[in-house]
Amino acid sequence: MSQPKSKILVTGGAGYIGSHAVLALQQAGYDPVVLDDLSYGHRELVEQGLKAELIVGNICDRTLLDNIFSSYTIDAVMHFAAFIAVGESVSEPAKYYRNNVAGTLTLLEAMVAASIKRFVFSSTCALYGTPEFVPITEDHPQAPISPYATSKQMVEKMLADFDPAYGLKSVRFRYFNAAGADPEGRLGEDHSPETHLIPLVLMAALGKRPDITIFGTDYPTEDGTCIRDYIHVSDLAQAHVLGLKYLQQGGESEVFNLGNGSGFSVRQVIQAAQQVTGRDIPIVESDRRPGDPPTLVGSSEKARTVLGWQPQYDDLTQIIRDAWQWHQQRHG
Ligand SMILES: NC(=O)c1ccc[n+]([C@@H]2O[C@H](COP(=O)([O-])OP(=O)(O)OC[C@H]3O[C@@H](n4cnc5c(N)ncnc54)[C@H](O)[C@@H]3O)[C@@H](O)[C@H]2O)c1
Repeated sequence: MSQPKSKILVTGGAGYIGSHAVLALQQAGYDPVVLDDLSYGHRELVEQGLKAELIVGNICDRTLLDNIFSSYTIDAVMHFAAFIAVGESVSEPAKYYRNNVAGTLTLLEAMVAASIKRFVFSSTCALYGTPEFVPITEDHPQAPISPYATSKQMVEKMLADFDPAYGLKSVRFRYFNAAGADPEGRLGEDHSPETHLIPLVLMAALGKRPDITIFGTDYPTEDGTCIRDYIHVSDLAQAHVLGLKYLQQGGESEVFNLGNGSGFSVRQVIQAAQQVTGRDIPIVESDRRPGDPPTLVGSSEKARTVLGWQPQYDDLTQIIRDAWQWHQQRHG
């Protein structure tokens, strides 16, 4: 008889990165179950696209979590559920601390009560703040400048304390800019409101936005625009499978950056999008936004060495091509 599949609870699995992780888990032979309140997620991606089980509910609901953990044999939790809009977190910090911090604490307490000991967490490079050096390594000083980034840092601190106290082992992934879409076009990015550069540029290419605004053209970079590290979402998803396997093989709690290692400027992204789409993308040049550092590029050497992670799609053109395929299907 074949072994029963290991069930993995994926919170936020109806969202952008979580849905790609569900696909990667399925492809690796796991049996993911999604918990998502659909506040920003998409039911059809899970039920039709992935044919995965979806529990519609909130991570803040302890009774629901206890029910899930007693009804399913869950081997590990991958935790993507969070609010993610940095600007909104400045005007509505309570919303972010409630969901991202208190919600995660509720989830962790329910895990401890159910003796579930493996946790893979979506953290962010935003907790480094304005970089003192690039590429940013995991030991770079932390100086979050938004409540969103602080909320992620607070969860990381909880996880550091939960390991020695309760034996809960975690892998914390600090992502740089997630981008692209499933190369086979089954999944992609659909945030509302959208704040990420590549989808905004592609919406402009589709004529769904009049133009794309470049915030700051006088940065100390080669073309004067900000440089960011774009990491293909399918590579991120693959790293989560490796992080899970690492914990299942007895790995100690660890933190890993996940980035591409090479940065691209805003102008380079727009030019690449013009090439991929064959369309003209109108540009508006505007002032710098407060809090935007000139260059944010991460070192992912540790994830490569410890987890054996090998990003497959590190080419900007490929990232944009995959995102374009998805956007045309979804919004074209
Ligand atoms: N997108 C990026 O570039 C990026 C970068 C760094 C970190 N992250 C982190 O990765 C994770 C996923 O980001 P994303 O871009 O896929 O966002 P997303 O908004 O597409 O996905 C988040 C999902 O979580 C769900 N959710 C939110 N609060 C919930 C709650 N209380 N209970 C149940 N479900 C809830 C939403 O409905 C949504 O489906 C987040 O934790 C985010 O902070 C993302």
